[in-house]
Amino acid sequence: MSLSKGPYEPRGLEVVERPDERTGRGWMKAIVVTDEAAGTAGMTFVERPVPEPAINEVVVQVHASGFTSGELTWPSTWTDRLGRDRTPSIPGQQLAGVVTALGYGTTGLSVGQRVFGLTDSYRGGGLAEYVAIEARNLAPLPGDVDFTVGASLPMPGLTAWQGLIEHGRLQAGQSVLVHGAAGSVGSTVTQLAREFGAYVIGTGRAADRQSALDFGAMDFVDLENDALEDVGDVDLVFDVIGGDILKRSAGVIRAGGTLVTIAEPTEARPPDGLAIDFVVEADRAQLGEIVQRVRDGRLRTNIGNVATLDDAVAALNPIERISGQTIIRVRP
Ligand SMILES: NC(=O)c1ccc[n+]([C@@H]2O[C@H](COP(=O)([O-])OP(=O)(O)OC[C@H]3O[C@@H](n4cnc5c(N)ncnc54)[C@H](OP(=O)(O)O)[C@@H]3O)[C@@H](O)[C@H]2O)c1
Repeated sequence: MSLSKGPYEPRGLEVVERPDERTGRGWMKAIVVTDEAAGTAGMTFVERPVPEPAINEVVVQVHASGFTSGELTWPSTWTDRLGRDRTPSIPGQQLAGVVTALGYGTTGLSVGQRVFGLTDSYRGGGLAEYVAIEARNLAPLPGDVDFTVGASLPMPGLTAWQGLIEHGRLQAGQSVLVHGAAGSVGSTVTQLAREFGAYVIGTGRAADRQSALDFGAMDFVDLENDALEDVGDVDLVFDVIGGDILKRSAGVIRAGGTLVTIAEPTEARPPDGLAIDFVVEADRAQLGEIVQRVRDGRLRTNIGNVATLDDAVAALNPIERISGQTIIRVRP
């Protein structure tokens, strides 16, 4: 993959070709997107100025990072909070690396510290050699956890934790239907729900049955061949698919039960129950809970492919289906 020049940030009327000559900031390699309609095929490998930390932020030298399949469909990848175009944007919300600079007023982290975390969705930035990120969105990464593993944890780990515990209020002994149970989020939901004492039924494509069972599902519904409605009444559905599957899922929840979805806003609701659609947020304490579970073997991460930043565009546009996350190993 060749490194193309720009696009670079306009300064006034002039397009600055080498911003470092004016600002003294260095350059870094990064993946950018500029065209929403192009999807991952519109990713380009460019040079960008190394970011600087603002108040309460740090700059992290990224060792590994991850990109979530839906990121390019989220408005936050394309605009800022005021709806202004923020392209070219660098995608990639989850990352692991080493702190190289502290912004004014930043406490709790130090230069040289190993960290992992989740960037704000209006910022992204993980598919690059350096990222500026709010310190509160990071947690220490223990020395015995590899950067590649660290980068694979924040998005599925926080999403599963918040969906099951904060929003789903899961109780031991409850039954949980987990859609996409062999996928990135679903496999983490499956493992955590089992640990918390739930009876877990996984769903997915026929080919994913064994993988879902290996992650701890006690039963499996093949959405391509089985009838979802045959599941009967469960206490909680954790949906990652949306659409028709989400709508039909409300019908397999007992009265008073809970439907949690991360796929889209939902109008489907179980009778007398709760329906929650939410977007994950960074949380240092929860990151700590998740990484501790990886260290002691309670949680297994789901990585399908690891590629370098130079090969990231090709790796994020796979010709064949990859089960599990693609992690970009930015530094060897
Ligand atoms: N709201 C939030 O905070 C939040 C956070 C994280 C992720 N998300 C979103 O949640 C979704 C899942 O993310 P992920 O990272 O877990 O994705 P993933 O790793 O691709 O997992 C999704 C799983 O569901 C399966 N699946 C999808 N549609 C299916 C269908 N119609 N029938 C049977 N199986 C189906 C997929 O199989 P195939 O690969 O064969 O399709 C895959 O195994 C994405 O849309 C992502 O953008 C939202």
